[in-house]
Amino acid sequence: MERHVLTLDETTCRRRTSVKWRAHGEDVLPMWVAEMDVLPAPSVAEEMERITRDGDFGYPVPADYLESVARWYRDAGAPADPGRMRLVPDVMTGVQAAIAALTDPGDPVYVTVPVYPPFHSVVRAAGRQLVAVPLTPTGRLDVPALSRHFAGDPGRGAVLLSNPHNPTGTVPTATELASLAETARTHGVGIISDEVHAPLVLPGASFTSITAIPAAERALAVLSAAKGWNLAGLKAAAVLAGPGSAGSLTGVPEDLGHHASHVAMRVQSAALDDGRDWLADLVADLDANRSLLQELLADLPSALWSPGEATYLAWLDLRGTGLGEDPAAALLGRGRLALNSGLPFGAGEGFARLNFAASPEVLQEGVRRLASVAGA
Ligand SMILES: Cc1ncc(COP(=O)(O)O)c(C=O)c1O
Repeated sequence: MERHVLTLDETTCRRRTSVKWRAHGEDVLPMWVAEMDVLPAPSVAEEMERITRDGDFGYPVPADYLESVARWYRDAGAPADPGRMRLVPDVMTGVQAAIAALTDPGDPVYVTVPVYPPFHSVVRAAGRQLVAVPLTPTGRLDVPALSRHFAGDPGRGAVLLSNPHNPTGTVPTATELASLAETARTHGVGIISDEVHAPLVLPGASFTSITAIPAAERALAVLSAAKGWNLAGLKAAAVLAGPGSAGSLTGVPEDLGHHASHVAMRVQSAALDDGRDWLADLVADLDANRSLLQELLADLPSALWSPGEATYLAWLDLRGTGLGEDPAAALLGRGRLALNSGLPFGAGEGFARLNFAASPEVLQEGVRRLASVAGA
């Protein structure tokens, strides 16, 4: 199938100076960190050009950016309002601030493993107790297990969600989030929902923000345009509360917003407001790549994958390859293919994460390298 935006060839990408392309030698194909092989959305490129032309590199006026985030959320069915938001420099700083706002030192913070490795480190660095609660075998939130944990240590702590989930690509349904919110409310546990992958929900699933769930009374969400529009180098994000959880924002300091970048906010607004057609093209390409990866892996029975509902991340079960607990190490050494090791995600022994936000040619070459080691 023809691609609209995931068309960049490897040589063009190798001109980049970002970590995806610089961490390894030229002979290594990088399919690891969450950067996409795309050129910017037209609205993003135009805003960058305007900023450069006008020398518009000063300090920010946050209101416009927060309005853009609110519009995006309202279009996604969540009742967002800039009055219930805080500007922060990036998503993980927002998560850190939300942990500080909703929990006290020593409190449990529940993470649903396997999950984005900085979730583990941010909880530990905050002096909170990291409690890993595995996803179900199909990669979904295990609400009964979380509920048992909450009941065993009521009145404190918070659960930290990746919604959609990195690395499995699952998207919690409104029903799952409502039952999680009910039990969290019953047991006095907060909810933090990292929603940075929300723009990347693929056909077949739909996104629900925690801020749209009435029972989520002590809850905060965090969003930026960094993943959807591939803008990780442009730092700005928002922490937001729902209509019934505005009090949760009280502990998020307003002055964190001083560390966000004016250029980032302008460009992210151009993405959120005027980059929707480009995003639709990207989502169509990711959907096509999801199918292509499934087809390619069908010829490699030792690599198992349950295709996700969102993101461009594939959580590969390589336990059948005989490559041990860290297959990514063998694939890098012998196959010159860089994936993310499953180990730092928790519950990731024998797994690796593959980034399929690439052209079909790069994806085919990646799976060829995978097969050359894993199929041997
Ligand atoms: C779930 C999740 N949260 C946060 C981030 C990073 O966001 P930021 O760079 O804005 O802190 C990523 C990056 O891949 C991610 O996957």
